[in-house]
Amino acid sequence: MTDEDASETAVRRDRFSGGPAREFLSSLAADAAIFEADLAVDRAHTVMLAEQGIVDDAVAGEILTALDDVEAAGHGELPDGEDVHEAIETAVIDRVGPDGGRMHTARSRNDEVATCIRYRLREDLLAAIEATLTLREALVGAASEHAETVMPGYTHLQPAQPTTVGHYLLSYEGGIARDTERLLGAYDRTNRSPLGGAAFAGTPFDVDRDRTADLLGFDGLVHNSMDAASARDFLAEGATACATLSTTLSGLAEDLIVFSNKGFVELSDDYSSTSSIMPQKKNPDTLELTRGVAGDAIGEATGTLSLLKGLPRAYNRDLQRAHASVFEIVDDVREAAEVAAGAVATADWAVEDLASAAGEGFSTATGVADLLAMGGMPFRTAHEIVAAAAESIDDDAPATAAAKVDEAAREITGEPLSAYVSSEEMEAALDPAHSVASRDSRGGPAPDAVAEALAASEARIDDDADTLSARRDALAAATDRLEAEVATYV
Ligand code: ARG
Repeated sequence: MTDEDASETAVRRDRFSGGPAREFLSSLAADAAIFEADLAVDRAHTVMLAEQGIVDDAVAGEILTALDDVEAAGHGELPDGEDVHEAIETAVIDRVGPDGGRMHTARSRNDEVATCIRYRLREDLLAAIEATLTLREALVGAASEHAETVMPGYTHLQPAQPTTVGHYLLSYEGGIARDTERLLGAYDRTNRSPLGGAAFAGTPFDVDRDRTADLLGFDGLVHNSMDAASARDFLAEGATACATLSTTLSGLAEDLIVFSNKGFVELSDDYSSTSSIMPQKKNPDTLELTRGVAGDAIGEATGTLSLLKGLPRAYNRDLQRAHASVFEIVDDVREAAEVAAGAVATADWAVEDLASAAGEGFSTATGVADLLAMGGMPFRTAHEIVAAAAESIDDDAPATAAAKVDEAAREITGEPLSAYVSSEEMEAALDPAHSVASRDSRGGPAPDAVAEALAASEARIDDDADTLSARRDALAAATDRLEAEVATYV
């Protein structure tokens, strides 16, 4: 490119983005999030151009040296531009002269920005994955400590059947394990390189797309060049995976808020807040914010899909508005998961109060019906008998419960309770701790079943932690490869 060509480019840019809509068009400020990504993409692309003989080694060296200088100056020192890609290119040309403009050979901002946002988002996703592991570890830690702590279990917010704190906490570990899987899936589909797709229609230059993908740590390509420049489904997938995680978190937060309100659990002061006027207050604010993040995350997922809906092929500028808010929500949800992990790890469960509440609301009724059915009665008849007795059984009278069930049994079947179960069996069924211990089906709350589930959860967390380290190691190795290549030119 001659000096004259370069100044014509500048004139052209001024004509199209120097008007009253300049600020509206520009994403430069928001692009701070992809400043580092863009530098990496520029470096990998320049190295590849040199290796393919598209740009001289000496010019590549000058461009790569300029990029180091631009990086040292920082995003805040970039010249004005429509976006970070244009601003960095201008900064390189300012340092190198018109030859700096060779950096943009065989690419477009369309494949460039798509590459940058994948490069950035994958880091955010890995951090979110790590937060899910931290939370799962906290849940498993507290669950193993409270594997035998009996508590009331609820449906419809009413006491339903006694369970254990360990069983309850592992229910969330199971959900969040799926959130980890979803985020890993989102990561794997995000981590593909669109670079080399150019504007959407490929390039006549002999580019090596696999080489840039490798230097940037991508696990392969978004093959079709039109798909490469246009696709943002990975943003929708990251946002929805986070919205789903945040929804799981909001349920956990809500439970803990309600449990702390009932005096079943005491949150650590570190995860509580107080009132500026009411001195006696200790409020579960961190959990309320955790619950609140779900609203934003659901909004973000909906917003991303709404922005993408109906966009024609190939590139449209609407896409510029798609990613910055996804980066933010992934961050917010990650933080919410970390806070939930801290709250769970430091919470103090009120073992005695939980035990005495566990039998409230005749919560052992199902166990009594099960017992009658085990004694040979059709379950539906047993249900009817216990339901009839339940109407007159109050919380503090387990002693009278057996007599009332006996009365109902005689009325409905004409036979006494003793035709089906012994009085010792009946007494045991009415005891919440015994009731829990009897439900030892796989995945159930009995201590043996919880112990088995704990071991399985721990193994699964270890596997996922290995997967996470492997992903991180692969990215770090690619960064080293790129640095080493760059060093041969500068
Ligand atoms: N900053 C833009 C984005 O984030 C990339 C610019 C591509 N512009 C264009 N007119 N094709 O999507």
